[in-house]
Amino acid sequence: SGRRSLGRPSTTSSGACPGIAGRSYRDICPILKDPGALTAVIDLFEEHVRQTHPQVELIVGLDARGFLFGPLLAQRLGVGFVLVRKKGKLPGPTVSVAYKLEYGEAEVEVQEDAVAPGEKVLLIDDLLATGGTLCAACELMKKQNAEVMGCMVIIELKELNGVEKLKPNTLFSLVQY
Ligand code: PRP
Repeated sequence: SGRRSLGRPSTTSSGACPGIAGRSYRDICPILKDPGALTAVIDLFEEHVRQTHPQVELIVGLDARGFLFGPLLAQRLGVGFVLVRKKGKLPGPTVSVAYKLEYGEAEVEVQEDAVAPGEKVLLIDDLLATGGTLCAACELMKKQNAEVMGCMVIIELKELNGVEKLKPNTLFSLVQY
């Protein structure tokens, strides 16, 4: 149906853009510009969660593009939304997890009281590349004694094998390249 129109690479879903150093980038901006595509994306995530993780209590979105899709999904599901941010962006007491990047290190943070012990959470971001960011966010949730039920992304870059950094069979991706 029309509402299932997201799928294979196209200029209206997630285009490949010329990037620096010969890399190409997958861009989710065209999805946001097209209300039908955005609805289709949230429909697919909602269907996945209702079928696979109906007990979810919280959607946790990753800085920055997880913030664009996570709250829409959380509202559909009638659950709350929590932000995992890059270091130094959140007010109040926070907990953090550091992780390695290709060059250097990064750190993700969550507000200390954002997640309750035992809370069932699903993480969402726009894209899985090396998996470092989602893996660190999962560690952060575990540090807060949350129960990580799974991770969701729009785009999975398969050749980087990021899925191997996550708990087996817990990644849901809408498009794979
Ligand atoms: C991108 C993307 C993911 C992350 C995935 O964000 O939106 O969050 O990289 O990469 P990984 O799987 O190798 O960790 P980026 O770091 O560009 O930050 P931004 O969202 O602030 O632009």
